[in-house]
Amino acid sequence: MTGLTDIRRRFPGLSDGWSRFDGPAGTQAVDTSIEAVADWQRSGNNANSHGAFPAARECDALADRVSATVGELLGVDPAGMVFGPSTTANMMALTRAIAADLGPGDEIICTELDHDSNLAPWLLAARDTGATVRMACLDPDSGRLHTEAVVDLIGPATRWVAVTGASNAIGAIPDTTEITGAAHAAGARVVVDGVHLTPHRHIDVNAIGCDVFTTSSYKWYGPHAGVMWVEPDLLDSLPAYKVRPAPASGPGRFQYGTPSWEAMAGIDAAARFLLETTMAAVIEHEEAVFAHLLAGLHDLPGVQVVGPPDLVDRAPTTMFLVDGHTPLQVATRLADEMVAVWDGHNYAVEAMGPLGLDADDGAVRAGVCIYIGHDDVERLLEAVATLVGH
Ligand SMILES: Cc1ncc(COP(=O)(O)O)c(C=O)c1O
Repeated sequence: MTGLTDIRRRFPGLSDGWSRFDGPAGTQAVDTSIEAVADWQRSGNNANSHGAFPAARECDALADRVSATVGELLGVDPAGMVFGPSTTANMMALTRAIAADLGPGDEIICTELDHDSNLAPWLLAARDTGATVRMACLDPDSGRLHTEAVVDLIGPATRWVAVTGASNAIGAIPDTTEITGAAHAAGARVVVDGVHLTPHRHIDVNAIGCDVFTTSSYKWYGPHAGVMWVEPDLLDSLPAYKVRPAPASGPGRFQYGTPSWEAMAGIDAAARFLLETTMAAVIEHEEAVFAHLLAGLHDLPGVQVVGPPDLVDRAPTTMFLVDGHTPLQVATRLADEMVAVWDGHNYAVEAMGPLGLDADDGAVRAGVCIYIGHDDVERLLEAVATLVGH
């Protein structure tokens, strides 16, 4: 039992009784975030920024408020906070601007552990500019991205390093602080994809030292949106693709069109929820529940756990295979028992080969988050046990 035993009540989306191990693809929204979105929509403040009337001033105040709250959550200067529709969209905008200053001979380091939203934008930028993407390899035995695998690729030609904060497929957490230090020593800049890390670990972007940190609020109990922090001087100096009247400095350079004010209200509430819950309580709860899940899967004959076998430097997410069943068949059978899991590659496309998985079928993915309890784990394990005849 942990201090978060009663937290399910804060999530109206769980009232149907399903066990929702699909959090890595998007969590249920917390009550205060849902209400903040609705309150904003009802308030009459739906307007736009920089106007001469009160509703417009409320939009400016909301932008300042949510930037400050997310800045506190991520441990970083709120001046660099960009709000967009998704992390993928934010990355496409960012790399399009970065590409204006890339050319043949320049190198970008990406990793096999990353979600494609921190890979494809770089591959496209390289295709368009003649730059080269060098891929840091995942260790197939441990399911880890070792620091040396990235650092050994860094050299005088390296311009950018793009690395995940945590794998959305198998949970592995690389040492982004070490990697950032090595990149900066070589004069390169670093993007950390913090989408899977943010709901599970205390984030201190200043301590990591990276130049860009991305996250998506729908993975941490808020609305569907992407938040990208860009170091403020870099934010102002990158040649953003933007419409002419858009601001010449600050986040407005990368916020295409009118932002979703209602999403920003929901993001503010979701970030507050995480801050108030405290990451210490989140980690204590999630580690206990995830340890139960991992041990239960390891103990089942006919089940193969994919990725790191332990809890060290690890978000509470795992993949697994079940003998004699495709991942889709497993997910379908679990759905019969009201257990939601994802099957497939989950957009971590480069990791599938090194992990020994089929490129399309991938594996079954189960993620623990704040509202998953031991009863959910028992339900999942019993359903898998039936599949393997136990
Ligand atoms: C680790 C990671 N990075 C990036 C993304 C992309 O986020 P978005 O859906 O906001 O584009 C995801 C989404 O699943 C993810 O898990």
